[in-house]
Amino acid sequence: MAPALDRGDDDSAEPHARTPAQRYAEFRDRQSHPELASFRALYDFEFDDFQVRACTALNDGSGVLVAAPTGSGKTVVGEFAVHLALQRGLKCFYTTPIKALSNQKYADLVRRYDSRTVGLLTGDNSVNGEAPIVVMTTEVLRNMLYAGSGTLKGLGYVVLDEVHYLADRSRGAVWEEVIIHLPESVRLVALSATVSNAEEFGDWLDDLRGGVTVIVDEHRPVPLWQHMMAGNRLYDLFTDPAGTRVNPELMRMAQRDRAVQQPALATGRSRPARGGRAGRPGGRAGHAGGRAGRNGHGGPPPGRARSPYRPEVIARLDAAGLLPAIEFIFSRAGCDAAVQQCLAAGLRLTQPDEAATITDFVERRTVDIPDEDLAVLGYREWLTGLRRGIAAHHAGMLPTFKEVVEELFSAGLVRVVFATETLALGINMPARTVVIEKLDKWNGETHAELTPGEYTQLTGRAGRRGIDVEGHAVVLWQPGIDPAAVGGLAGTRTYPLNSSFRPSYNMAVNLTGQVGRARAAALLESSFAQFQADRGVLDLTRQVRRNKEGMAELAGKMACDQGDFAEYAALRRELSDLEGDLSRRRAVARRTEAARSLEALRRGDIIRVPGGRRAGMAVVLEPGPGSGRAADRDARGPEPRGRGRAPDPRDGRGAGSRDRRDAGSRGNGHGPDTSGLAALGGHGPLVLTANRQVKRLSLADFPVPVEAVDRIRIPTSFSVRSPQHRRDLAASVRNRLAGRDVAGPQRVADWNGGAGDRPGPAGPGSPDQMITALRRRLRRHPSHGCPGREEHARYAERYTRLKRETEALERKVASRSHVIARTFDRVCAVLESLGYLTGDTVTAEGRLLGGLYSELDLLAAECLRRGYFSGLDTQELTACVSALSFESRQTDDAAAPRLPSAKVRDVLGRMVRAWGQLDELEKEKGVSFLREPDLRFAWAAYQWAGGARLEDVLESADLTPGDFVRAVKQLIDLLDQIAAAPVRGAAGRDLRATARAAIDSVRRGVIAYTAVTD
Ligand SMILES: Nc1ncnc2c1ncn2[C@@H]1O[C@H](COP(=O)(O)OP(=O)(O)OP(=O)(O)O)[C@@H](O)[C@H]1O
Ligand SMILES: [Mg+2]
Repeated sequence: MAPALDRGDDDSAEPHARTPAQRYAEFRDRQSHPELASFRALYDFEFDDFQVRACTALNDGSGVLVAAPTGSGKTVVGEFAVHLALQRGLKCFYTTPIKALSNQKYADLVRRYDSRTVGLLTGDNSVNGEAPIVVMTTEVLRNMLYAGSGTLKGLGYVVLDEVHYLADRSRGAVWEEVIIHLPESVRLVALSATVSNAEEFGDWLDDLRGGVTVIVDEHRPVPLWQHMMAGNRLYDLFTDPAGTRVNPELMRMAQRDRAVQQPALATGRSRPARGGRAGRPGGRAGHAGGRAGRNGHGGPPPGRARSPYRPEVIARLDAAGLLPAIEFIFSRAGCDAAVQQCLAAGLRLTQPDEAATITDFVERRTVDIPDEDLAVLGYREWLTGLRRGIAAHHAGMLPTFKEVVEELFSAGLVRVVFATETLALGINMPARTVVIEKLDKWNGETHAELTPGEYTQLTGRAGRRGIDVEGHAVVLWQPGIDPAAVGGLAGTRTYPLNSSFRPSYNMAVNLTGQVGRARAAALLESSFAQFQADRGVLDLTRQVRRNKEGMAELAGKMACDQGDFAEYAALRRELSDLEGDLSRRRAVARRTEAARSLEALRRGDIIRVPGGRRAGMAVVLEPGPGSGRAADRDARGPEPRGRGRAPDPRDGRGAGSRDRRDAGSRGNGHGPDTSGLAALGGHGPLVLTANRQVKRLSLADFPVPVEAVDRIRIPTSFSVRSPQHRRDLAASVRNRLAGRDVAGPQRVADWNGGAGDRPGPAGPGSPDQMITALRRRLRRHPSHGCPGREEHARYAERYTRLKRETEALERKVASRSHVIARTFDRVCAVLESLGYLTGDTVTAEGRLLGGLYSELDLLAAECLRRGYFSGLDTQELTACVSALSFESRQTDDAAAPRLPSAKVRDVLGRMVRAWGQLDELEKEKGVSFLREPDLRFAWAAYQWAGGARLEDVLESADLTPGDFVRAVKQLIDLLDQIAAAPVRGAAGRDLRATARAAIDSVRRGVIAYTAVTD
């Protein structure tokens, strides 16, 4: 695949002017592909080449993988599959990863055909599921496949829109399951964003299903221009159309920036800036009106480029005709604050008549929402922003509000949207310009830098096909930003699609139930995950073979007619390893001893600095920061945070000091304690030297331990600043030492030979003895006398290096071969030991598990079979089940969650304990799938099921409306599965009834009126 640098060059071909040759091709097309011809007539634009190629392949009976940039028109290909199915009397399922996208697609198709022909299945919605055309989420199709649903009969085509979701860590496996399990007769239409390994993915599809044509198109239909904005000026990021030369003006600005920021930012690392002020979540909204606040410190220092001020950015884009724009801010609170900032700054992007249209539209779309809820949802403030053409868009918002924003933006009424990156996933909401505020985002744990793939995805929204001649991407200037790094992000346009597939418990019972263990393992071996692993293995194996050939050649060259040279070389190696090891250990021991000796120094000690620039006599004015610590630690014993490690036998100290050693000498797994290194942190004592200078010494000044040769009293009134004091003290030291031999107590060499300090016993079997013995054996070896010895040895050396490298490669190959099937075996081992599987048979419990599609599938199944939920009322059941479906965004919240009743507390406690047992079992079998149940939604779920007001629930749960709606919908999904679970007997009947009642009790108010949305 050619590097994607051909943007902006040739987009001038007038799409509608056709040459005679093209017209002839179309004529032939009508003859040979009548279905395609009738399909093309449905559109008022000409198809692009890639669309024609893909549709033709489909028409000819092939499946297709289409990889093309965002907004290039892949949907057309999916719609052709719908068209073909109807023409041929077959069914077509159109799958999307997101409910909102499914809704959108459903509406489109109903408009084209009619509501009898098209159905919708999203979990929330079930409309006409037996129609010939059904739009559904990919999960719905997966569940159908496992259930062997009759709806699959007559299925001819499956469209997998946004198939690159396959790489998604939590949901990606579903796509592979679908692709693996669909009957071979079904033609697949996989639509993907541009990925660098489309061919690889296509090869897999073709291997697996046969007859798949890969269509890759890298051309963006609307060219994209890259810019940076500093202050209120827009700069081109590149000076050439190919996007290879970064604008020198920007580079100079960055240089000036660095010069001014020295030394604070002089870390030498070249990377985009992090944590720019303009983007601080919830940051400077309060100051938005006043300019002083915008840079946090009241404006930039002179000579430094300024991070642009948000309202100014928008005003500038407006003036340049670059709206509508999406500005990405990777925090929900940041998006809300940005809207407030723009409002406070008096920004208004709409005319009065537009504002009136907006109000009308919003009122119509929110007519179902009761007034009391509107107040809780922040309706007034939201509407104020919308009327001025400004809005936020993120997952914390009520889905209905999010949709209204999308609709108003598409209609051109809302002109600026501050969005989190969720907007870039799937939702079709293109803009003229995309602004990126910072080049890193908070992923919940750390700041992660934007990858080229993400950058492409975000900026892919810029440039609306059929509306804009070109799209624009604008990166805002931040202190410390590196334009070259921005250029790197913008220049690399594709990223690889990597499988995230792994077997799960639910998958294991479903697969085994359908096809048996052996065939299930074989099916899993056919996953893209294993395909990719195998490809990697292929390369590795090739390398191993080449290495082995090289080794054979080297073995020939080192052959010696006097004796077995391989044996001789092994002896030499052993000897040099042993010597190297000993000298390393000695060096460590020496440095450790030196550090300890420094710690022992006290004020007034007269020392001899053995080496370095400060060699000579000196008197200690102030011991180093680490001094005296060792003694403290000895007295205190192991530090409490030590994880119960045994005391270190090598130096008799406690676990605490061992922790320190680990920190101080990482990377050398052997050798004695070097705690002093860490404790000193490079700072030794402050001394007065013989020539009356005050110096801070460091460990580097002490290649050997130091010992006080004498001691002198330093008056408490002594001041290092006073030349007189320094002179006096130096004189006293000289006097004290007069006439004494103060030659250093030890030289490095002496010390190395000093017996007591050896890092190992010196008796028989000691390193020294072993070295002597080895040397003797070496001398006696027949090859030792060979005249070609050193030449042989050089080859032997190379042979050994290659051998070690090859062994490492072979280990890698072993770990990747059949990795999926091996994981599957472990999963089955867990299931067998719990009785969900016996060999090839799925037990009754296993069937129960097969109907639970939760991340905590196995724990949910355990709860059901152990009867934890029996006897609970609807409210209690809702609360308990929420612990399985909910996962909080906050990972570090240590506070104990509020829990409803004693009964709920008891059941939740049992659930957590059950999880603990499963976790143990997983460890024993070598897998780790189950996270701990999350109790932080139980209280809100209980209240909501009991009829509490939205306001009260949101407040007590500290959740945004968007999060709340999502959490309840996930809860309903799981309750739904429980309501269908085949738990036996009266208890089962009761549980199913309670689960259904629980669903009814939570599907009300805000949940009911947002039911049609995601
Ligand atoms: N050949 C064409 N000529 C002009 N406009 C087209 C053409 N094909 C598609 N379009 C229009 O381009 C827009 C984007 O198309 P579409 O949504 O299919 O893109 P996509 O490739 O699916 O992008 P995404 O990756 O965002 O899903 C639509 O408005 C569509 O009508
Ligand atoms: Mg699309």
